[in-house]
Amino acid sequence: MNDEVKKGLLGIVVDETEVSKVMPEINSLTYRGYAAQDLCAACRFEEVAYLILNKDLPNSIQLKKFEKEERENRELTKNLYEIINHMPKKSHPMDVARTAVSVMGLEDKETSNSSHEANMRKALRIFAKTPTAIAAFYRIRKGKKIIKPKKTLSFSENFFYMCFGKVPEKEIVKAFDVSLILYAEHSFNVSTFTARTITSSLSDIHGAITGAIASLKGPLHGGANEEVMHMMKKIKKPENALKWINEALDKKHVVMGFGHRVYKSGDSRVPTMREYFKKVAKIKKDKIFEKIYDIVEKVMIKRKNIYPNVDYPTGPTYHLMGFDTDFFTPIFVISRITGWSAHIMEQHAANKLIRPLAKYKGSTHRKVLQLNQR
Ligand code: ACO
Repeated sequence: MNDEVKKGLLGIVVDETEVSKVMPEINSLTYRGYAAQDLCAACRFEEVAYLILNKDLPNSIQLKKFEKEERENRELTKNLYEIINHMPKKSHPMDVARTAVSVMGLEDKETSNSSHEANMRKALRIFAKTPTAIAAFYRIRKGKKIIKPKKTLSFSENFFYMCFGKVPEKEIVKAFDVSLILYAEHSFNVSTFTARTITSSLSDIHGAITGAIASLKGPLHGGANEEVMHMMKKIKKPENALKWINEALDKKHVVMGFGHRVYKSGDSRVPTMREYFKKVAKIKKDKIFEKIYDIVEKVMIKRKNIYPNVDYPTGPTYHLMGFDTDFFTPIFVISRITGWSAHIMEQHAANKLIRPLAKYKGSTHRKVLQLNQR
C-alpha cells in the first residue's frame, strides 16, 4: 500500500465531471463549456441555473417552463415558517439555511427516491424554497413581518423583495444576478466534494445539500465573503488601510478574500465581479470601500503575490446593497444549490463510494486493562 499522505487531497484528481472546468493556466472558468463571464454578459441567473442543471442553455419555451416551476415552488409550508420563527434570533443564518433544507427533506414526499427524474424535481424545489427560508429569517430576526414570495418577480428581484419589501434599481439587480452566476458552480471545491461524498453512499439530495451548506459556512470557503466585510469594517477608512494590511502581513495573518487552492495568479471570476462592485459603489456613491479594496489588493499582490478570490468583491457589493454581513454566505448558498445539485446527479449517475485511506500514526498493540486496573 502506498502510504504517501496528500493532505487536503492536494493535486489529487478524484473523478471526472462535465459540469464545469476551472482553468487556472488561462484564468478561465466554463460552465458546461460556456465561459462564466460570457454568461454574465448575456444571461439572467435563471438561464444559467437551467444550464447547470440541464446541461444546455434553455430556449425561450424551456426557460418559461423552468421559471414557472421555480416561481410556483417558492412558498414554504406553514410548518417550516413556524420552525424558522422559533429558531434562536442569534443563530447564524447559515445554520438556519442548513436546518431549513434539512426540514425540507423531512417534508418532501420524494426524499427516498433518488432517481434522476426525482432528483431534478427535488433540486428545483430546494432551489426555489431556500431563498424564501433565508429571507424569512432575515425579517424575523429584525422583528419584522415575513414577506411572502411574489410570482411576478425574477429570482433575484424576488429575493430583494422578500428581504427589503422592494426591488432596487435594475443595475443593482443585475449586479446581484452576476454575483449569483459567478457563485453558481466551481468544480470540486470543498462543499461540492462534501455533497458528492455524502451522495456516494447513496444518501439523498436534501442530506447532501445540508452537508454542503455546513461546509460552505467555513471561513476558508464561502464564509470568506463575510470575513472580508468584517475586515473592511475594521479598517474603516482608506487612510487606515495601508497600515492595517501591512501589520496583518507582518503578524503573518491570513487575509480573507485572498488566495485560492486552484488559482495561483488570480481568480477568473474576480474581474467581472470587481466591475460590478465598482458599478454598485458608484450608484451608492461609495468611495470608502472602493478605496480600501484597491489599497489592500495592491499590498497583497506586491508583498505576497497573492490575488483576490471572488469573495473579495462580493463582500462589499452585498454590503452596499444593504444586506447584513452574516447573510452574505447564505446568498452564496442560494446560487450554489444549482452546482451542488448537478454534481449530486452526476455522482448518482456514475457512483463509486468515496472512501480514502489514512496513514495510522497512533499507538499500537496496547493491552486493555480492566476498569479497576486503569
Ligand atoms: N493571506 C495571507 N497568506 C496567505 C493567504 C491569505 N489569504 N492565502 C495563502 N497564504 C499563504 C499561506 O500562509 C501559505 O504561506 P506559507 O507557505 O508561508 O505557509 C501560502 O500562502 C500557501 O497557502 P495555503 O493555505 O497552504 O494554500 P491553500 O491552497 O491550502 O489555501 C486558501 C487556499 C485556503 C483559500 C487560502 O488561500 C486562504 O486561507 N485564503 C483565505 C480564505 C479565503 O478567502 N477563502 C475563500 C476561497 S474562494 C471560495 O471559497 C469561493
